[in-house]
Amino acid sequence: MYPQKRSIRDLELAGRALFLRVDYNVPVQAGRVVDDTRIRASIPTLRVAVEKGARVVLASHLGRPKGMRDPSLSLEPVSGCLSSLLGSSVRFVGDCLGPPVHRAVDSLGPGEILLLENLRFHSGEVENDLDFAGQLAAPAEKYVNDAFGTAHRTHASTVGVPAVLGRGAAGLLMEKELGQLDRVLSDPRPPVVAILGGAKVSGKIGVIENFLSLTDTILMGGGMAFTFLRALGIDVGRSLVEESCLETARKALRDADACGTQLVLPEDVVVARECAPGQETWTVPVGSIPSDRMGLDIGPRTRRRFGQEIEKAETVIWNGPLGVFEMEEFAAGTLEVARSVGASRAFSVVGGGDSAAAVGRARVRDSIDHVSTGGGASLDYLAGKTLPGVAVLTESN
Ligand code: 3PG
Repeated sequence: MYPQKRSIRDLELAGRALFLRVDYNVPVQAGRVVDDTRIRASIPTLRVAVEKGARVVLASHLGRPKGMRDPSLSLEPVSGCLSSLLGSSVRFVGDCLGPPVHRAVDSLGPGEILLLENLRFHSGEVENDLDFAGQLAAPAEKYVNDAFGTAHRTHASTVGVPAVLGRGAAGLLMEKELGQLDRVLSDPRPPVVAILGGAKVSGKIGVIENFLSLTDTILMGGGMAFTFLRALGIDVGRSLVEESCLETARKALRDADACGTQLVLPEDVVVARECAPGQETWTVPVGSIPSDRMGLDIGPRTRRRFGQEIEKAETVIWNGPLGVFEMEEFAAGTLEVARSVGASRAFSVVGGGDSAAAVGRARVRDSIDHVSTGGGASLDYLAGKTLPGVAVLTESN
């Protein structure tokens, strides 16, 4: 948990050029935004900035273009989507630094909004390059970070720019996300149940270790569960196993035992020959996965077991799908878990794009206490890690 950070509400912004970091890393297909959840989530902050008369300069990344200009990852479609949501025009400039940006910012009037091109078209963004951060900050006078979903990254726009601009303040989305997650951290009503899924153990291993002390039960599904099953000596056929994580998985299993946290792995799985749509599927116990098949969803017995644990919970944290949710054949486990979380009386926090999409598809979004716009960021924060993009902001006095 952080000491209270200065809020955008506390800033004098009339006529000031405001660098507003948002997370518009949204799915775009054929030049159209297909899920505008993150864009909508930024609107309360934008309205405050506009009402205060700021000259608003929005900055975001989209995808991982690795320092190269990639037209399919341009933020231009986002400016159109944002204009329609706001009902007023949002300008767009085809770079995030240099003379065209200076000219565009100079021509902004109070309450007007400009969206910069994808920050990650320059490698200086993810490298948190000092010179790049200086150039990004140059046309701006004030800094606000509302990009909760990117707060776990030490990048130029999240750490370098506020350092240049004398730190900065949190936007309303950032405040809301931290407030909801702090509720779990400061007063986690037991039993605390974490549901962890997703393809890879490697991305979540640090979090699993930290969750052993926060939670009473960890329900594990998704691709990552197979590394744990293999670590227990179970043959998992052609299922995804990260050999390099086997030892870490064994250690997590030992640590779970030692601290009395239940780590519940799948008992049965849905298997197929390939991870592809239209495949024939079978449900088998985890000990009987045929050598030519791979596990792609949790089976019905596991869904029931997970449901029973969720029903007993007073606090539920869910991050990551329990199967290959984007394919109909392997979506049932994730959807059933979404329904169990929706039906539970627990204080529930869901993070990560797939889990958030699952609660939408299962029509239980309104029964979830907090659906976070940040997957990795919410998980890191709940696991007690520092979020560099928050740590750098000015404390309120
Ligand atoms: C996200 O979607 O999780 C954030 O926008 C961060 O994106 P990244 O994982 O590419 O840094």
